[in-house]
Amino acid sequence: MTQPAFRRPVMAGNWKMYKTVAETRDFFSAFLPMVAGTQDRDIIIATPFTALATAVDATHESSVSIAGQNLHWENEGAFTGEVSGAMLREVGCRCVLIGHSERRQFFGDTDETVRKKIRAALAAGLIPVVCFGELLGERDSGHTEAVLARQFAGAFTGMPGQLTPAEFSRIIIAYEPVWAIGTGRTATPEIAAAAHRFLRKLSGDSFTPELAVRLRILYGGSVKPDNCAGLMAQDEIDGALVGGASLDPKSFSAIAHS
Ligand code: 13P
Repeated sequence: MTQPAFRRPVMAGNWKMYKTVAETRDFFSAFLPMVAGTQDRDIIIATPFTALATAVDATHESSVSIAGQNLHWENEGAFTGEVSGAMLREVGCRCVLIGHSERRQFFGDTDETVRKKIRAALAAGLIPVVCFGELLGERDSGHTEAVLARQFAGAFTGMPGQLTPAEFSRIIIAYEPVWAIGTGRTATPEIAAAAHRFLRKLSGDSFTPELAVRLRILYGGSVKPDNCAGLMAQDEIDGALVGGASLDPKSFSAIAHS
């Protein structure tokens, strides 16, 4: 691990639509003893909404934080099926994923709704973990940086709702190339680091060099116990956002310790 000391690593799990309440309880009774002594990094798990209360309860006296996987940008209202930032905060979440590629692909999240959700999360006192990433065709046609720049601007600097530097300082970014999610095809550490470097440069250009240096950027996409150390060896990579391999306590614990 070569991250600068002031960028505390973040090892995050995204359970997606997996695990019942009973399975959540079982996971934490196995997982928490495995990370009991781990204090040099943040560990976050984003569970389905139905398991949040159980997960918060189970992790109450641990250093593990619980996150929502999505939120609506309004505080309350006639929005059937949606959950607000205030509701996530009340149940005990500290963070929330925003703009995951599955939300963008299947549930209509756009750069504009991502921006609104980020503002709502900040207003609710949640740490937004904002996800960016290009499709395979976009990478193959040489458009990766253009896509990341568009997503970055849409999320943070678009109007109305451009973030202030103080707001931006509370953001975590996850770079998740869509072609690497759930495919077993991880980005090489060098490919991921190059994208992270580009996102950090955008942060410096749009906010301040100090904020860019402090920004934590996670890599996501087929992270497994056997490839995580190689990714974390890059000083541009400040942590991981892990899907499938976060469902098993042993494998997520191995990743969390990488
Ligand atoms: P996998 O680790 O299953 O590829 O999923 C990555 C992801 O989408 C995390 O948000």
